[in-house]
Amino acid sequence: MAAADALAGLRIVVSAGPTYEDLDPVRFIGNRSSGKMGFAIAAAAARRGAQVLLVAGPVALATPAGVQRVDVRSAAQMHDAVLAGLPADVYVGAAAVADFTPRQVAAGKIKKRDGEDGLTLELVRTRDILADVAGHARRPRLVVGFAAETDSVDSNARAKLVKKKVDLIAANRVGVEGSGFESDDNALVVYWNGGEQALGPAPKTELADRLLDLVAERL
Ligand code: CTP
Repeated sequence: MAAADALAGLRIVVSAGPTYEDLDPVRFIGNRSSGKMGFAIAAAAARRGAQVLLVAGPVALATPAGVQRVDVRSAAQMHDAVLAGLPADVYVGAAAVADFTPRQVAAGKIKKRDGEDGLTLELVRTRDILADVAGHARRPRLVVGFAAETDSVDSNARAKLVKKKVDLIAANRVGVEGSGFESDDNALVVYWNGGEQALGPAPKTELADRLLDLVAERL
């Protein structure tokens, strides 16, 4: 139980779920993240005695026991809520944050026009929450990112570890049965500088505890 004790009393900020980027009053760009992995991590950390702030995108999940929750909608709101949650000992970026957001939100519903057979949306990059936390003056002692990959999981995940200057990257292969966004189960490969460990396939609730074991070991 030594690993579990290592998290007791620590402040842990977890982001979870998708973000919704509004196009107009009735439409948005979202993604298929259910938030289950991030909520499982928040729940497990609270069970292990951590003081947990969960920044949640739009999801249909109950707040885990003992967790402080802040609900957000867009990537920009999630950025603000996560950074407002610092200082912390650990940040786990489990949210599927939109990489792009519409340059402008239309004030009224976007209408079809006669003679137009298409619509071009102009999108701009969002700020990278994970990279901003990792580069922050009050950087948490341990910063954990996720990577959803369809191909070349190993090299893509390792590249993110270096580029975003994070301590751990938990990679999952999306687009395969029994893992990824909407599933209750998942399989992760966790990478750090000089090592890696495969976790699962297992229920996300169990993976959360195994991931936190790695966090505790590397603190
Ligand atoms: N992330 C973030 N802020 C963003 C985008 C991503 O904090 N604006 C975080 C996610 O929470 C996750 C990790 O970065 O921890 C995922 O990195 P990203 O490079 O966005 O992953 P992919 O979407 O898998 O990247 P790519 O589009 O390059 O494949």
